[in-house]
Amino acid sequence: MRVLVTGGAGFIGSHFAKRLQRAGEEVVVLDKLTYSGNPANLEGTGIELVVGDICDPQAVERAAKGCEAIVNFAAETHVDRSILGATDFGRTEFVGTQTLLELVRKIDVRYVQVSTDEVYGDLEAGGSSRENDPLAPSSPYSVAKAAADLHIPAYVRTFGVQACITRGSNTYGPNQYPEKLIPLFSTNALDGQPLPLYGDGKQIRDWLYVEDHCAGVEAVLRRGRAGEIYNIGGGHEVENIEIAERIIELTGADPKLLQHVDDRPGHDRRYSLSSEKAKEELGWGPVVSFAGGIEQTVAWYQANRAWWESIKSGEHYRAYYERQYAERLAGAE
Ligand code: NAD
Ligand code: TYD
Repeated sequence: MRVLVTGGAGFIGSHFAKRLQRAGEEVVVLDKLTYSGNPANLEGTGIELVVGDICDPQAVERAAKGCEAIVNFAAETHVDRSILGATDFGRTEFVGTQTLLELVRKIDVRYVQVSTDEVYGDLEAGGSSRENDPLAPSSPYSVAKAAADLHIPAYVRTFGVQACITRGSNTYGPNQYPEKLIPLFSTNALDGQPLPLYGDGKQIRDWLYVEDHCAGVEAVLRRGRAGEIYNIGGGHEVENIEIAERIIELTGADPKLLQHVDDRPGHDRRYSLSSEKAKEELGWGPVVSFAGGIEQTVAWYQANRAWWESIKSGEHYRAYYERQYAERLAGAE
């Protein structure tokens, strides 16, 4: 099978592209190489990388030539950046997904939309989200993802396309751009820099190791039923503060680096996914424990300094970091 992986130079997409290649599939990646897209993630694989935008119909059509399936990872992905400005989020998520589906209806290929548990919103009150729960996104990022998801059932119903949605939970592992919690805190700890914990740090996420996430998307690509949504949850609900403390332990950093800073506006307290459907229908379940996954991940950042130092020393990263954290850290407790 020849598969187009959009956003395949990013964190999860690159792991997925390599996973499909290992399974003997032919993979082509279409990626705009935004700040988080990194050709180094595909280095040495021989995977074809086409640089282009999923909002550009011609680029998409060219890249998809000869493909039997499209898996869409391309997105603007960071909640904090969406709070600073969400225009790119709306465009890539909504227009980009629509552009891909316009092609899918024309050339009749399988399609998987990679979405997120954040579309279900805050579950502070308890319980776990199921696939048919209402959408209640609370950040500009999750609104853009939810809006993109709405295209899929409409194209399935109207045009009979073979499309599914996956909703993964918070994902971590090697090659994750150092702006999200685990790679940011790991690299800051290794550099002796502060770990800026938002608010009380008791927010809960359902952590999923990247390879488990990719296995879930692969199962949906191969066996998912058209029009269906599949939750892909890690099943490991952990408070942010516990993660920060574990990273300090694993890196041997000074515990004083942990600093409570002003909270993220609109911050969701808890996410939790029920993945019963993926288990029952597809036989998928996560296999990596959180204890093992976090140890492996921190070890990877320890062993791959050159990968993240080249990102963190860049002008783009430094400007973002200053904007997001300078004031917060100045007022830290
Ligand atoms: P990432 O930021 O590392 O990768 C996103 C990739 O998309 C980058 O390579 C970027 O260059 C590319 N891209 C952005 N806009 C594009 C455009 N207009 N055209 C083509 N390429 C474009 O993010 P990630 O963590 O790998 O996330 C991948 C997907 O998984 C996203 O759709 C995200 O919403 C979803 N997801 C992520 C998580 C998580 O915890 N990271 C959890 C659930 C779902
Ligand atoms: P993040 O990795 O940005 O993922 P998401 O917002 O998509 O869940 O954040 C995970 C959790 O960590 C979230 O509750 C916010 C918190 N967090 C901090 O406390 N400090 C930080 O610097 C970052 C980036 C996140």
